[in-house]
Amino acid sequence: MPKELFGRSGESKTIIDILAAARAGAGAVALLEGIIGTGKTSLLRWAEETARDEGMTVLSATASPAEQRFPLGVVHQLLGTLPDTAHDWGRTFAAYREPHEGGRVQPDYPLLAELCASVGRAARRTPILLTVDSVQHVDCPSLLWLGFLSRRLENLPVVLLATKRCGEPASDQHLLVEFMEGLRPDRHIHLSDLSPSAALDLATSLCGHGHGHEAVGALVAGTGGNPYLLTEQIRTGPAIRSGPLVPAGADHGAGPAGPPGRTGRPGPPAAPGYPAFAAHP
Ligand SMILES: Nc1ncnc2c1ncn2[C@@H]1O[C@H](COP(=O)(O)OP(=O)(O)OP(=O)(O)O)[C@@H](O)[C@H]1O
Ligand SMILES: [Mg+2]
Repeated sequence: MPKELFGRSGESKTIIDILAAARAGAGAVALLEGIIGTGKTSLLRWAEETARDEGMTVLSATASPAEQRFPLGVVHQLLGTLPDTAHDWGRTFAAYREPHEGGRVQPDYPLLAELCASVGRAARRTPILLTVDSVQHVDCPSLLWLGFLSRRLENLPVVLLATKRCGEPASDQHLLVEFMEGLRPDRHIHLSDLSPSAALDLATSLCGHGHGHEAVGALVAGTGGNPYLLTEQIRTGPAIRSGPLVPAGADHGAGPAGPPGRTGRPGPPAAPGYPAFAAHP
């Protein structure tokens, strides 16, 4: 996580307001959405730190394609440590041990409601921030519960904050769309690449001062202000910390386009003095 988030003052103000409203009893669900590498997870972690500083309990989960096969896995990540639900997990998971009538058992209303009530009981002691990173990968029963909870948060001191990467298939498109349709528009936060000045601030903070302005500027332009691409190019670039960057020369041009990175789109042109962007594992 970066020590400082650049160019996200509007988004962080929105999050601060949502957390404050929840502490006053008006809960909410919010979503950070953006293309790959725009800083969704970083802003989520920042929100967690902020909530902890304000005395809130933070319960977090990260969804992954590999764990989509585990029903209620994400709910367990979130609530597994809550004393209010600890005794129920054996019973809850037992319902999923065997496929039922040719398909998986879906959580029934009493179970969904009981899990919500557990959150409500815990939130009466301390306001809660629930975070879910990469909601598009959440297993279906957990996604059903997240939607269920989000329709019952209004009078609870609870915030549910999730991230979603654009353009990725969801574990259950119908449930995800329903979850997103329930969002208040001002709580659906779209993260774009950084503005040129914020990207320049990030690049300068990573490179240190005293480096060629032109080279830093070219690097920023070459990455389009995408924080992930910018960070990776600086991390894998030559002698970043030991010497000044090579100033952009007229004969360098914009450099060749890099290979596809984790964006799945062609990499950005390599900045002068930098290798083309390397694919992320
Ligand atoms: N606003 C920012 N200021 C400084 N650094 C940032 C900012 N946003 C992201 N970064 C850096 O960019 C990189 C990618 O950020 P992050 O992993 O949060 O992106 P993401 O949107 O969650 O990516 P993904 O789509 O893969 O989930 C990280 O190294 C992070 O530290
Ligand atoms: Mg992320």
